[in-house]
Amino acid sequence: MSNIEQTLSIIKPDAVERNLQDEIKNEFIKNKFSIIKEKKIHISKNEAEQFYKVHQTKPFYNDLCNYLSSGPIIVMVLERENAVLENRKLMGATNPAEANEGTLRKKYGISIDKNSVHGSDSVENAKLEINFFFKD
Ligand code: CMP
Repeated sequence: MSNIEQTLSIIKPDAVERNLQDEIKNEFIKNKFSIIKEKKIHISKNEAEQFYKVHQTKPFYNDLCNYLSSGPIIVMVLERENAVLENRKLMGATNPAEANEGTLRKKYGISIDKNSVHGSDSVENAKLEINFFFKD
């Protein structure tokens, strides 16, 4: 049985700043993801705080929100079989220092904050995150 899902992906400011967006998008395409929707935006700190609300009690919340709002980002809806899990596998561990060879964060990430990409961690959160950026 097929299980086509959608997930939200963000190419973060560190990667956009280094002009890596086309290279990263090609990685998604090579790995059988379709980019269904895409836009380049620069969000406010307030929007970043709303987006990362699940992390509001964490010690890194303030830095995280400053960072995501520090420059342009690319937000995308990706679709494929088991998209949520497959995107997380492709991204690798949150901390690039711990990410496996061949993963996006290993290849492009600089630090745990500047880890180049975000991906939804569950189907439920994917729906919320897609709706956050793409309210039709
Ligand atoms: P992301 O997948 O976008 O979700 C939350 C982000 O918080 C995460 O990637 C990291 O970039 C950032 N972050 C910073 N410090 C930590 C930490 N100690 N644990 C997890 N995430 C962290």
